[in-house]
Amino acid sequence: MVLSLPAYLAAEGVRRISDSQLVEEEISILGIDKARELFRLLGNAQRPSSADFSAYAFQASNGVDHLFESAKYGENLTITEKVNRKLKGRKAILDAGCFTGLKTVWYALQNPESTVHGIDMVDESIQVAETRKAKYSAANASFSVQDVLTYKPDKKYDAVVLTNIVATITEAHNTRLSNPESAAFLRRRVAPLVSSWVMPHGMVIIYDRLSIPIFDEYRDMTQAAMLSEGFSKAGNERVHSSGINGDDIEGVFLAFQKP
Ligand SMILES: C[S@@+](CC[C@H](N)C(=O)[O-])C[C@H]1O[C@@H](n2cnc3c(N)ncnc32)[C@H](O)[C@@H]1O
Repeated sequence: MVLSLPAYLAAEGVRRISDSQLVEEEISILGIDKARELFRLLGNAQRPSSADFSAYAFQASNGVDHLFESAKYGENLTITEKVNRKLKGRKAILDAGCFTGLKTVWYALQNPESTVHGIDMVDESIQVAETRKAKYSAANASFSVQDVLTYKPDKKYDAVVLTNIVATITEAHNTRLSNPESAAFLRRRVAPLVSSWVMPHGMVIIYDRLSIPIFDEYRDMTQAAMLSEGFSKAGNERVHSSGINGDDIEGVFLAFQKP
């Protein structure tokens, strides 16, 4: 029997949680010293222009990634179902920036006729993803440690999923590029790169908290607009664009299709 998404999330320890419960549980699992270290890393990760990914590695290797996922439970429920509906019938699927593979394994279980590959640049996250794959015997899921920006797939995909990663990619590069260059980066580099991984009629599915214009010089251009421009220049049609607002969600859902 295929698990429902709420049942799967519950089995993975992911559930609706208040901010105070989150902190309490982090302290109870990690102890106060390690919890302090986590809060410090999370603080670093949230600074603009930070390329610090060590909070992801810390959460994965200290068994608190389910709390990270619980903090955005509503988003996990809504977005995962929404993406999955677009994956139906697509044979080769890539989940780029998959963290510990929570969504990736779910997509694999829901689409047994497809293969689902998850990539992430953080080794500790991919190790947890492999354990999750084994737990569910998801033979059609696979994972590898890759940087999206240097990833060269040996085959093209029918669908590429990027959820909650686009802003992170840009932030990481913001430390090396000036603001206007960073803004253009999504349009000039990320969109054509991702587009090159997709086969004809394939789809790129994006969800991100993109609603806030991030760079002063581009106050009037949101990341969504930059991405749309980049994908359209790379020959894709935008087939879906909607703003999503919910209890703990505020973002943009986009889909682009290759002719
Ligand atoms: C906020 S998490 C999102 C995880 C998951 N996609 C989701 O929807 O919940 C962002 C992930 O993207 C990964 N990431 C960021 N930049 C990356 C890059 N250039 N290459 C590979 N992974 C990257 C981070 O390591 C992290 O696991």
